Amino acid sequence: MTTYLKNAAIWQESWDAQQEAFMPDREHRFAAMLTAVAAVTDGRAPRLLDLAGGTGTISLRTLARFPGAEVTVLDQDPVLLTIAEGSLHDRAVIVGADLGDPGWRAKLPHEGFDAVLTATALHWLPAERTAALYAEVREVLRPGGVFVNADHMADEGLSELSGLLQDRARVEREARYASGAATSWADWWARAAADEQLAAKAVERQQIYPTGHSEDFNPPVGWHVEALRAAGFRESGVLWRGGTDAAVIGLR
Ligand SMILES: C[S@@+](CC[C@H](N)C(=O)[O-])C[C@H]1O[C@@H](n2cnc3c(N)ncnc32)[C@H](O)[C@@H]1O
Repeated sequence: MTTYLKNAAIWQESWDAQQEAFMPDREHRFAAMLTAVAAVTDGRAPRLLDLAGGTGTISLRTLARFPGAEVTVLDQDPVLLTIAEGSLHDRAVIVGADLGDPGWRAKLPHEGFDAVLTATALHWLPAERTAALYAEVREVLRPGGVFVNADHMADEGLSELSGLLQDRARVEREARYASGAATSWADWWARAAADEQLAAKAVERQQIYPTGHSEDFNPPVGWHVEALRAAGFRESGVLWRGGTDAAVIGLR
């Protein structure tokens, strides 16, 4: 019998608060992504892949909006996947896989997804791998399915203003940490490592992310739209924008 994480919903809440300190409009992008899913499924419960899904944030929102959705969460972080499993139980298939390896698709329970959604994650991969991954994602979608990637993607026409927006966001984030309104990335991970049930997973995680994170690759939004087109999506464009972040979409 699976022993689920105690207090998984509270860890979920604390992850969301930590992420919202970086992206106060995080829920807006999720809502826009799910509206695109509704548009291509015409009211039918979707088959959805939450790519680099971490704690399963997108999956939980998908199940809340589309009861009956078939959801798969894929990630390689053992701590976050333990939280995902504790939150989702048997309402989702949980897959451990490295998106840096083109073999990730072999670990999926099925292909033919209506939607593949990912948020704040693919900037952990280098340029060539991201471009190749876009083509691989297209392959796991059914014709007419959509891929949405929400991440840090500045508008190329606003390089000076984007810098100012980033500076302002950093000031506000530091104020949140200083006041205790939010927990920083480093503090959140220290708390997870100190949890009785997550400690062993945090040690495993250390092998995967020795520096706690990966390289950042954050090209402007046009790079992503062009990479989606080059990957074979028949339409690609911007679904949502908020300040220096955007969600790009590709229609297979
Ligand atoms: C900032 S978290 C975002 C998680 C989730 N999408 C959310 O919005 O809450 C970035 C996620 O990308 C995952 N990730 C980064 N590189 C990965 C890779 N090569 N393979 C699988 N997952 C990866 C990390 O493990 C982490 O869960």
